[in-house]
Amino acid sequence: MQGEGTLPMVLAVSGASGQPLAQRALQLLLEAGETVELITSRGAITVWQAELGIQVPGDPEAQEQFWRERTGVGSGTLRCHRWNDQAAPIASGSHRTRGMVILPCSMGAVGRIAAGVATDLLERAADVHLKEARPLVICPRELPWSLVHLRNLTALAEAGARIAPPVPAWYHQPRSIEEMVDFLVIRTLDLLGYEVGELRRWQGPVGQPG
Ligand SMILES: Cc1cc2nc3c(=O)[nH]c(=O)nc-3n(C[C@H](O)[C@H](O)[C@H](O)COP(=O)(O)O)c2cc1C
Repeated sequence: MQGEGTLPMVLAVSGASGQPLAQRALQLLLEAGETVELITSRGAITVWQAELGIQVPGDPEAQEQFWRERTGVGSGTLRCHRWNDQAAPIASGSHRTRGMVILPCSMGAVGRIAAGVATDLLERAADVHLKEARPLVICPRELPWSLVHLRNLTALAEAGARIAPPVPAWYHQPRSIEEMVDFLVIRTLDLLGYEVGELRRWQGPVGQPG
């Protein structure tokens, strides 16, 4: 039975640059004991290889073991899904979730979701979250954005998605890429109400100019 307190979060990873953000999000959610339904798109598997030189297994069981070993986290619940398994429970609105985040989100996925075209499980699950009016956070990664990208993102915002590009901040004074990654991931998960780490919220300037 899906109780309110145990509702899973759908973490979807598409083929945009920024796979370390997805890995850190997964690690922090599992460390916090959350239940994660993980979708890694076909494009993401290619980018994992290109950015970090690792081959993510397509088979869900092998993939779960892979992520457990790679993140080093045994807590929480992890369910991995094959990129094109449109018969997975999360492909249906009857399967309840707490929300979904697509981190990072390719502009291809943005366009297909905006058009209501579900060619894989990631796009179908996003479509389901929109139709069920459940939280959907989309983290698009591209630079620059064309008018097509901007129009697609506007359509998604109008349909109820939160658009949260992984844009770094400096006001928390990051001293490493890891601290910058953590800020981006924790700030993004904060949008869905998750507290998976310390978020340095802006408290105002420390010293006033004289
Ligand atoms: C190394 C690499 C980096 C990429 N980075 C981006 C990116 O930042 N944004 C983007 O929209 N597409 C990017 N792409 C292109 C997408 O991976 C490609 O459009 C893919 O078809 C997206 O598939 P998906 O939407 O099913 O994940 C990148 C591709 C590669 C190989």
